[in-house]
Amino acid sequence: MSAAIIDGRKIAGSIRAEVKAATEILRTNRNIIPGLAFIIVGDDPASQVYVRAKEKACNEMGFHSVTERLPATTTEAELISLIKRFNAESTLHGILVQLPLPTHISEHKVIEAIDYRKDVDGFHPVNVGRLVIGQPSLRPCTPAGVQELLTRSGNDPTGKHVVVLGRSNIVGKPLANILLQKQPGANAVVTIAHTGAKDFAAYTTKADIVVAAIGKPEALTGAMLKEGCVVIDVGINRIPDLTTTSGYRLVGDVDFQSAEKIASAITPVPGGVGPMTIAMLVRNTLLAAEGTLYG
Ligand code: GUN
Repeated sequence: MSAAIIDGRKIAGSIRAEVKAATEILRTNRNIIPGLAFIIVGDDPASQVYVRAKEKACNEMGFHSVTERLPATTTEAELISLIKRFNAESTLHGILVQLPLPTHISEHKVIEAIDYRKDVDGFHPVNVGRLVIGQPSLRPCTPAGVQELLTRSGNDPTGKHVVVLGRSNIVGKPLANILLQKQPGANAVVTIAHTGAKDFAAYTTKADIVVAAIGKPEALTGAMLKEGCVVIDVGINRIPDLTTTSGYRLVGDVDFQSAEKIASAITPVPGGVGPMTIAMLVRNTLLAAEGTLYG
């Protein structure tokens, strides 16, 4: 038997259509146009590509957006003073500082400088803390997208054993906290396995749902899975491949060929989790513009 493919492009497209419709209602009823500010420091090519894709999505939604491209020599104080200006700008409801930052700038200090009500990445300590204690908050986009992929593909995690591989602040830890919530579409029993674990398979063979977010190409194989489980692959890894014109190809953290023979449903790479991140970013921006999360 081979697994059903969970189509991230299609699910992300539905969410974007919902956000676009709600944006039109917000404009008509309250004369509010969601506004998002992007800040990139330096000229990391991957960051440029990501931000262009995010700007394009904002345009499609009918949002207002501004982008500040700052030189790599920008000081931490200059960056924080720009953030403070955007914090005070009422036409901007979201502020996204693209990571990574040059090493002379503290990511923690920069994230803390953002007004938590405009923190559409969900990285500010206030939002992290509110998520952990079950208060409404802006949630990190990639893990929020994983939850949507599960619920919208008919694989509701309620009451299931979910094993999350990876404990990053961007994916593993917030995903575990999202799926732990005593709420519809969550309420799962969650295990986090990480590089401190001696043997991933000891955990993954017991999982109803496995989410791989470890940044290791094709590390999770079919032999490590329980028959009929659901597999979500957050990884995006470039591996050399001389048969392609670019000389590389993209693979996830899951060995798709062996995993799809054991799983009942699986996400592809590309076209799985990737498109969800931007869909959740525009949804967070809409939520920030609606202004109802924090009472
Ligand atoms: N760099 C890689 N992923 C992300 C993300 O989700 N948000 C931001 N701000 N930067 C990133």
